[in-house]
Amino acid sequence: MPVTVVVGAQWGDEGKAKVIDLLSKEHTYVVRYQGGHNAGHTVVVDGEKYALQLVPSGILYNHVIPVIANGVVVDLPTLFSEIDMLESRGISCSELKVSSRAHLIFPWHQAHDAIAEAMRGDDKIGTTLKGIGPAYADKARRVGLRVGDVLDPQRFSALVRERAVAENTLIEQAGGEALNVDEVVSRFDQLAARVAPLVTDTVGLLHSALATEAHVLLEGAQATFLDLDHGTYPYVTSSNPTAGGACVGSGLGPRDIDRIVGITKAYTTRVGAGPFPTELLDDDGDTLIDVGKEYGTVTGRRRRAGWLDCVMLRQAVRLNSLTELALTKLDILDGFESIKICTGYRLNGQLLTDYPDRSDLIADVEPIYETVAGWGCSLSEKRERSDLPSQASEFLEIVEREVGVPVKVVGVGAERDDYLVWAT
Ligand code: GDP
Ligand code: IMO
Ligand code: MG
Repeated sequence: MPVTVVVGAQWGDEGKAKVIDLLSKEHTYVVRYQGGHNAGHTVVVDGEKYALQLVPSGILYNHVIPVIANGVVVDLPTLFSEIDMLESRGISCSELKVSSRAHLIFPWHQAHDAIAEAMRGDDKIGTTLKGIGPAYADKARRVGLRVGDVLDPQRFSALVRERAVAENTLIEQAGGEALNVDEVVSRFDQLAARVAPLVTDTVGLLHSALATEAHVLLEGAQATFLDLDHGTYPYVTSSNPTAGGACVGSGLGPRDIDRIVGITKAYTTRVGAGPFPTELLDDDGDTLIDVGKEYGTVTGRRRRAGWLDCVMLRQAVRLNSLTELALTKLDILDGFESIKICTGYRLNGQLLTDYPDRSDLIADVEPIYETVAGWGCSLSEKRERSDLPSQASEFLEIVEREVGVPVKVVGVGAERDDYLVWAT
């Protein structure tokens, strides 16, 4: 069963896209299974940077069939501007398939996202304001429009009009600015016509692919601790990035999957509000942000940064059945004299054995650190584990010991080939 899942093991932006690009060499289908254009997935090839929000990160390979599966919420304007951007750079998107079951994002979802954030005042989640939460809410309320609805243009147009009128009432009640209904309808009529040829029963497609032994890569967006159920609620996204969500969001069953790769940075970042036990609000934090260029791909926001947290990673192993880790951005630690790794949490003086089940508890924990000496040299040219300075090897050994799964890929730079891979 050649299905691999790639899932973020922290709060997003771990470098999933770079690892997906690497794994795409040996996969035919690369499938986004949840989230939407809140994702910002970066691949760098020969100095050319590709920032992808909706199109799967395997797109840069000719042999890859990119699939946007049923669990994704699709913003058509973003999808087409991304396709146009890729095609203008010589990357063909002609094989792209979009699930008939995927839900659509409309401008009223973005309006509601902004209103909900404004109403929370100081307690903002810090969403990407892309309408993700409201679109998933409509899916759960069973009033969402699905990609397959575009195949009946007249009915689609009428439904968009009906929903736009109804949503305008709510937007105005909340003090927001009403949408121009005619404009929205005519814009979505055009977008619907353009997406129609891409509409596919992706569940059928992927199962037929498996029947021919094709290799399928399921690309997670966001991450374990942004998961609606398992993340630091309410400071989470509105989908399930965890490996279980990969089944729901693609229509493949749990027994179809044989490899689940958790992506972690060598430190931790988060963008938006919410608890962050190892956060650094000092010079070391500023160094991680500056050297790591920790600014959001989608919103440009400065990320928050702190030391690596193995308590989170242990929980990510449990929640996702991770078979291995890929650890990115080890090179960003090159300049540190000493590096800390969180190996446990204390709460009210007591050592915790399990990951706390409430965000208010996570906000109160005190991290327990192990310190390793820095390696004082650049790792960017390293390609073998045996080439690593002893301190960097020690860092990786501590992670493997604490987390309990092997680190099979290590990133030492942003470029496609800047990594080390080894078997255990
Ligand atoms: P994603 O959302 O998980 O795909 O990650 P992002 O693309 O949002 O952020 C990761 C950033 O780190 C991107 O700018 C990548 O080009 C970059 N990156 C990925 N791996 C490495 C690495 O090993 N070293 C360095 N220096 N940069 C990396
Ligand atoms: P990738 O796939 C990092 C965060 C937002 C906010 C919370 C909810 O690039 O790793 P939303 O707009 O989803 O309702 O926002 O989730 N968030 C991300 N943080 N990486 C992402 O995606 C994210 N997508 C959403 O900052 O805190
Ligand atoms: Mg990102």
